[in-house]
Amino acid sequence: MTLPQIITIDGPAASGKSTLGKNLADWLGYLYFDTGVMYRAVTWAALRAGIPLEFETEVTKLAETIDIDVCPPSQNDGRAYDVLADGEDITWDIRRPEVDGGVSQVSAYPGVRQALTAQQRRIGLRGKVVMVGRDIGTVVLPEADLKIYLNASVDERARRRYKELCDRGVQVSLAAIRENLMARDRIDSTRQVAPLRPAPDATILDSDHLDASQTLEAAKNLVKRFQ
Ligand code: DC
Repeated sequence: MTLPQIITIDGPAASGKSTLGKNLADWLGYLYFDTGVMYRAVTWAALRAGIPLEFETEVTKLAETIDIDVCPPSQNDGRAYDVLADGEDITWDIRRPEVDGGVSQVSAYPGVRQALTAQQRRIGLRGKVVMVGRDIGTVVLPEADLKIYLNASVDERARRRYKELCDRGVQVSLAAIRENLMARDRIDSTRQVAPLRPAPDATILDSDHLDASQTLEAAKNLVKRFQ
């Protein structure tokens, strides 16, 4: 009986990848690694440093030098992990609408992707990992044992993200979220380097009519095929 050692979950923003990734990793006793936090951390750091996001060279330099760490949660406030940038806790800052609005632009820069992909690959190749992102099955870990592409309609994804932000007390409209998701989908899937698309050997799961536990069941069934 051999369980898949490297599992990747890719898909568009707010399709439920993070929830599935965390649940699946907990079930298997694996490391859960959400690569989106790295692109968010670079975006947040650039905004805070006052670097305009269109300054590709400066933003890339930041990606090459910033020390991003993801550790077990230090607080019981709904977080799945702590995200630290040069030692500072930015777990919730990277979920703010300004970061949502800029992160696709930052993640389209080849130099930023190169810097972060190298770190992700190093972590992933250790195995016993569920790694979540946009290009994990296609570029970061093409040798993964199990690749899942989690999809959902833009309306369903907007509803989920809206609820998530409202629950945290962030004021934003459903229409603005929908617009932002559509813009991000467009940038993420048309960029030159590592565009969002399913790997040829990925299993596509549509989560539109599935809640979190049903999505987990579907993924568990894919894992059990290895046994
Ligand atoms: O999954 P997320 O919404 O936290 O991701 C934030 C952004 O980072 C998203 O717009 C696309 C980008 N991203 C990426 O390009 N590649 C990854 N492996 C993960 C995220």
